[in-house]
Amino acid sequence: MTVQTVSKGPFEGQKPGTSGLRKKTRVFMEPGYLECFVQATFTAIGGAKGKTFVIGGDGRFFNRAAIQTMLRMAAANGAAKAIVGQGGLLSTPAVSNLIRQRKTDGGFVLSASHNPGGIDADFGVKYNVGNGGPAPEHITQAMFEETQRITEYQTIDAPDLDLSTCGTTQLGSMEVEIVDPVSDYQALMQKLFDFDKIKALFANGFTMRFDAMHAVTGPYAKAILEDALGAPDGTVINAVPSEDFGGGHPDPNPVWAKTLMDEMMSDSAPDFGAASDGDGDRNMIVGRGIYVTPSDSLAVLAANAQLAPGYSAGLAGVARSMPTSGASDKVAERLGLASFETPTGWKFFGNLLDAGKVTLCGEESAGTGSDHVREKDGLWAVLLWLNVLAERGQSVAEILVDHWATYGRNYYSRHDYEAVPADAANALMQGLRDKLAKLPGQTHAGVQITAADEFSYHDPVHGSVSHNQGLRIWFAGEGRAVLRLSGTGTEGATLRVYLEQYAGPDAAHDLAPDAALQAVRDAVVEITEMQTLIGRTEPDVKT
Ligand code: G1P
Ligand code: ZN
Repeated sequence: MTVQTVSKGPFEGQKPGTSGLRKKTRVFMEPGYLECFVQATFTAIGGAKGKTFVIGGDGRFFNRAAIQTMLRMAAANGAAKAIVGQGGLLSTPAVSNLIRQRKTDGGFVLSASHNPGGIDADFGVKYNVGNGGPAPEHITQAMFEETQRITEYQTIDAPDLDLSTCGTTQLGSMEVEIVDPVSDYQALMQKLFDFDKIKALFANGFTMRFDAMHAVTGPYAKAILEDALGAPDGTVINAVPSEDFGGGHPDPNPVWAKTLMDEMMSDSAPDFGAASDGDGDRNMIVGRGIYVTPSDSLAVLAANAQLAPGYSAGLAGVARSMPTSGASDKVAERLGLASFETPTGWKFFGNLLDAGKVTLCGEESAGTGSDHVREKDGLWAVLLWLNVLAERGQSVAEILVDHWATYGRNYYSRHDYEAVPADAANALMQGLRDKLAKLPGQTHAGVQITAADEFSYHDPVHGSVSHNQGLRIWFAGEGRAVLRLSGTGTEGATLRVYLEQYAGPDAAHDLAPDAALQAVRDAVVEITEMQTLIGRTEPDVKT
């Protein structure tokens, strides 16, 4: 074993969040940088001695080299075993599943999610714990503190391992098992969904396009959709993971998955379209001629999940992040299910899932998941949709129209104002915070405000409280606006404005979302004095 010294902590004041540490790839490649993160993680969890870890990433530039470094360090720190995805590949939900299936102590995911990849783009590492979910706050805090005092890390002098062949080998005194990245995940999907029924759907001519965006879900989607379920060759596009995701952003939304969106809105659209992100935890769902918002997707899945074998006993409850539309609440209310509203970010769902309080959860930012793993899961959402489509024998559009006629429609859109100077963004938020109490009763842009507050979350499992989780304004006629600052932006501040307008079962459901949301949007612009405070009223991105 060799002990290497490091001269500086790797985070430069940045704490790894629950989505791990994300930085420019070149920063991660600096000698000692990645090593510092890994050594600090081992120390924070009480050492690696005798432990087993899952290791894999989304295939972006530096993925394999980083894995070799981590393996040598795990061996030097006395780990008993590492389970590594073949070729260094594992999706985030597949890592979560392997940790749970193989009962390992934890796992490392190498990814910067939907951020671009390449030597001049982004890289990231995240540590997940024994329940398969992201490390909780007390561990990330301990990791951070350790990186402030770390002076050395442990490694061994050994050549790179061949990651391309499945099987077991030794690295120093540590066993390394290279596994097929897909098989355990596929086995889990086969338990949850009626593969025969979905197979019959494809055999009867149902058509689909899945855009893997040159990222990690390519091999998973090929194996499951084309090989196991019989969808024709070419159903999965951009299926080979590339180090720079074909030069694009592997972010499954109408902006970055435009080619797929254009095809789905064309005359020759297939029946169903879907996409997933860099590390396979996000999803986008599109029907022929119709985009399904992530909030609506969660609601439709909650209303129909019992059609899939894995959920036939019904759901314990449904959780959504606070800015996600209330569409899933309407389903929970009518079906008598428990429903929860959590702060933005997947980690808050983990406690509810572990405690058996909810079965499904989701976020407006294209994350949907269930108690099968402790991460959001892109391909899982696609397969649940396929199972529902196969059982109901209707199109995506018919299912949505039917859903809205039953539960009403929550028109919804998120407006992002990017690269706002931090001072200006903070001034806007503070200005709004200061006047929240006076808002109820006021009328802006013709709509009356009924209530306003700042969201605090009381964790019903652990009893902890998270404050300052977003400003909320409710309007007469079931409109709502939420404002918060992004925790993942990289340049200045990103102001997120979430707009929602409910239209009951008997109202019109075919308005353009922008039109349905116009009043709420105009009111927000007026109330926040946006033009004065940040100098603009038009967002950079609308999703
Ligand atoms: C964004 C999304 C949030 C998601 C997070 C990590 O965070 O809005 O829903 O959990 O990325 O994928 P934000 O930048 O808004 O803090
Ligand atoms: Zn992701």
